[in-house]
Parts: sequence; C-alpha cells; structure tokens
Amino acid sequence: MQEVISSGQYIQGPMLKKFEEELSAYTGAKYAIGVGNGTDALWLSFMALGLGEGDEIITNANTFFATAEAIWIAGCAAVLVDCDPKTKCIDPQAIRKAITKRTKAIVPVHLYGQCAPMREIRQIADEYGLLVIEDNAQAMGARGDDFRIGELSDAVTTSFIIQKNLGTFGDGGAVWTKHQYVNDKIRKLRNHGSSRRDMHSFGFNSRLDDLHAGILSAKLKHLDKWSDRRIEIAKKYAEGLKHCDFLDLPYARQGYRHVFHLYEIETKNPADRNKLLEYLVKNDVDAKTHYSIAIHQQEGFPWGKEARLSGPLVNAEKNAASCISLPMFPELTDEEVQYAIKAVCDWPKHK
Ligand SMILES: Cc1ncc(COP(=O)(O)O)c(C=O)c1O
Repeated sequence: MQEVISSGQYIQGPMLKKFEEELSAYTGAKYAIGVGNGTDALWLSFMALGLGEGDEIITNANTFFATAEAIWIAGCAAVLVDCDPKTKCIDPQAIRKAITKRTKAIVPVHLYGQCAPMREIRQIADEYGLLVIEDNAQAMGARGDDFRIGELSDAVTTSFIIQKNLGTFGDGGAVWTKHQYVNDKIRKLRNHGSSRRDMHSFGFNSRLDDLHAGILSAKLKHLDKWSDRRIEIAKKYAEGLKHCDFLDLPYARQGYRHVFHLYEIETKNPADRNKLLEYLVKNDVDAKTHYSIAIHQQEGFPWGKEARLSGPLVNAEKNAASCISLPMFPELTDEEVQYAIKAVCDWPKHK
C-alpha cells in the first residue's frame, strides 16, 4: 500500500500489472486480468466470449446469487441444474439433460472450496461445442487430481471480496484465461472500451484498484499456507464430528485439493437445521447458512429473462434446507475449533 501511495498511481498502474503477473504465474494461466469484483468477472467473461441475448448458460441451482445474476446481467438465460448430493458441486449428468439448441456455455461453481468435476464437464462441452467458464470465487488455491483450475476451461473468474480465501480490504475480482482475445476484450471492456488514450468503444468501469492489487500481491504469498491451515481445521472438524449421526459432513473428492472456503455440514433431517443453528449462535459459535435459499427459490425468479430449471433439484433443495457453515478461517485456534465441535455434539441433549 505504501508503494502504491508513493508512486501516486492508483488505477491501472504498475502494482496492478505486477499483481496480474503474479496471479498468472500462480494459476498457470497465460493471461490474468484484475476487475472490480467477482460478479463483474463473470459477466465480463461472458461478454468477451460472445455470449448474450438468446443464449442459455447452465449453472448450479445451489450457489451464491451472483453466479445467476451475472448470467442475467449479460442478457443470457440461466438454466439451473442439480448438484451432486455428496460434493454439492454441479452434477454432470444433470448438465447433459439440460442441453438444448440454445445452450452455449456451462458455468460450474467450485463450491465451498472444492473443484467441480471438470474432466466430465470438459467432455460434455466438447461433445456439444460449449464454452466453459469456471466460477472460482470460493476456491482460490484449490485444484483437481491431475488438472489445475483453468486448464480445462475457456475462462476462470474469482472474487477478492474480503471474506474469500484470498480477500482484499474491500471488493475486487479477476479473470484468468488461455485465450488472447478474451484477455484483450476484457481489458477494453473494464476500462470504458478504451485501449488507447481518448478512443472508446462500448464498455464499463470495472477495474481492480492498485491499492487492492498491492494488498492481494502481499497476501498471495501466504495463500497456500492459509489453505493448509483450512485443510487442517477441516480434519479436526471431521474427527470431532464423526459420531454425530444427525449430520452429513463435507465430502472431499479423492486426490482433489479442497481448500474449505466454508466447512458446510448438513442436518440429516432438515427440520433440525434452524434448531441447531439457533443453539450454536446462542452459544457463541459463529455459524451461518450458505445458502438457505436456492437460486430458483429467490424472489422474482426467473426475472423475465427466460431463466429456467432443468430436472428435479432435490439435492440443491435439500442442501438449502439443511446446510450450516461452521466457523472456518486460518486464524481459528485449535481451542475455538474444539469449542465449536463440543457445541455441535452437545446439541442433542438440549434439543
Ligand atoms: C460463487 C460466487 N460467485 C460469485 C461471487 C461474486 O463475487 P463478488 O461479491 O466479488 O461480486 C461470489 C461471492 O461473493 C461467490 O461466492
């Protein structure tokens, strides 16, 4: 931050360039572009890839609202499909069933910190000639078993909002891609459609400020260590909660690096969720829900843009009705983790 202040260059300055280079090295992507936030990262990618009016984009029914919102902002129709009951990531079989003549892209969300089954998704995309944009807002630092996030897609988007695994002191986002044309287009779109002084085509204002780039550059060096601590905390939760037969615990796919943005448990009986949540909050455990309302259950769905559901969404609806996120961040102490575990285990006695 001091370096940026001394340079006097706050927007599209040398610190942004430095951070973009670091992000590209970290992700292994040829191009990385800083933008205003994770929502913009999504719709700027859609526009750069040529998606728009009349195009259908398949995504999770269980995700943060912004994934569907970005599809709507780009003028496309969101087609919501079910998740896998164990991993909560998008179900490839449900994607296959949702494809129509209008389908142009798939947006898998790496939910809670775990990479979606990208090999299966890539195969479907190849069969039907679809674009793939990974929503990686929740999984900075995650990877698949023998592939990196970004290797099997056209673009990856992320959010640097403060609460993410790599968060700035406010809002921020980025896209990374292997395609030069996507890089060039987003760079123009994020800066009023301008690639040289005083000349503009249609665009927006969505830049990652240099102060944020400086913060992110400093924090990126610690990300892997912080992810390791999250994984360690997840192991402690799994061990401490293994006898709670009223719960389903997170499932990490074999060989994948799940970076536990959230430690999301489910009550086997949805009727227990609010009772357990209230008990935890009353006992000073900072438990929350992510997300208790699925996208198709949100107000005003389908927002006049031909959004639709494909197939039954039983797993997404069960997830919404029964999810609880336990405290998860690298600075949590072992004592705090044990405190949360004890509170969950004690709950049946206070039911
Ligand atoms: C899955 C997912 N997609 C998109 C976003 C949007 O990011 P932002 O809040 O930076 O716009 C978020 C989080 O906020 C998210 O969790």
